[in-house]
Amino acid sequence: MSLALVTGGAGFIGSHTVDRLLNEGLNVRILDNLQKPVHLKGKPSYLNHKAEFILGDVRNKNDLVNALKDVDYVYHFAAYQDYLPDFSTFFHVNTVSTALIYEIILENKLPVKKIIVASSQFVQGEGLYRDENNILYKPDLRPVEKLEASDWNFKDEKGNELNWVWTPESYANPPNAYAISKYSQELQTIKFGKRYGIPSVALRYSIVQGARQSFYNMYSGACRIFSLSYFFGKVPNIYEDGKQLRDFVNIHDAVDANILVLKSPEADFEVFNIGGGKEISIIEFDRIVASAYDKGHIQQNITGEFRFGDTRNALSDIAKIKKLGWYPRKTVFDSVAEYKDYLYSQKDITDILNYSREKMKELNVVRKVKK
Ligand SMILES: NC(=O)c1ccc[n+]([C@@H]2O[C@H](COP(=O)([O-])OP(=O)(O)OC[C@H]3O[C@@H](n4cnc5c(N)ncnc54)[C@H](O)[C@@H]3O)[C@@H](O)[C@H]2O)c1
Repeated sequence: MSLALVTGGAGFIGSHTVDRLLNEGLNVRILDNLQKPVHLKGKPSYLNHKAEFILGDVRNKNDLVNALKDVDYVYHFAAYQDYLPDFSTFFHVNTVSTALIYEIILENKLPVKKIIVASSQFVQGEGLYRDENNILYKPDLRPVEKLEASDWNFKDEKGNELNWVWTPESYANPPNAYAISKYSQELQTIKFGKRYGIPSVALRYSIVQGARQSFYNMYSGACRIFSLSYFFGKVPNIYEDGKQLRDFVNIHDAVDANILVLKSPEADFEVFNIGGGKEISIIEFDRIVASAYDKGHIQQNITGEFRFGDTRNALSDIAKIKKLGWYPRKTVFDSVAEYKDYLYSQKDITDILNYSREKMKELNVVRKVKK
């Protein structure tokens, strides 16, 4: 029976992938260091006991050597994904670990059949735009002065608003340490994979949603924050004008893509966007979450604030993976419902509330508009 190693297999995407791989009849090994605050309470109860679990760190070569023994397939999901300015950690955890995996395979002549690496939509930064004459624009993050003036959208020289476009995998403009580390992982995956004949695939996930997203992981975004807010009888803050667009994708669709690229030789040495394929604004998403908690009547709280470093829109073109037969089957309604069920199944609700309160305070790095 084939053996798949899943680094970060105790996490959100990793654990769902572990379950699916086991269902597909593979043996599965997890390498995970149960990083805090993602796993504030230690080993999560949802971990599948049929998988072998190695407590170890992807930065540690010995841990990786042990974990890679007799492995046929590797899913590399372990990652550092905070917003803190400890830049080197992003490269140690995300980038160096990827290099180590290829290094160990070559040094030990390991017969690994495929490596699948988690990249991120953040690699495209603000993505691509077009003006009314169809001229392509490649904007960087918006300067703070524009945001302070509530000037949210990208414009051409004449002041006309640009139109966002579904951004393909061929484009990269990583704006921060996390995104640069993910882009490096992608490049290594494709270049080392080709150079050394190890089938390799990088998946650029859009924001993935569903059960098991850590309550304590600040990275896990709108679904977590909005759901927890309504659950605890609060109204979440909405930044900018709330018209920012995202293409959220459900965890089960993401896992379908993970399995599809494992089985498809056509996927080898390619990068694929894995997104929801449908744009939704933050204010629309907020209403969906509010209704799920019977709070749809409560007025939205658009605070007149913004988070410096947020992208205005994040929309990935999924035409390439669609050619392999994948398309998103689930909706944001499914994701919100799955997260709600997960939240209601928790026993340590008070802890989550306390933790959220503290984090909300910390999150006040949020800036106010000046006009
Ligand atoms: N969830 C998303 O929306 C999303 C979007 C784009 C990309 N990604 C990428 O997908 C992957 C999985 O994300 P996720 O949402 O499941 O995150 P997660 O935080 O739920 O899981 C990550 C897992 O990695 C483990 N880990 C962290 N550092 C480690 C280390 N040094 N050694 C060993 N294990 C370590 C953590 O303990 C955790 O179990 C990541 O690479 C992430 O960058 C996720």
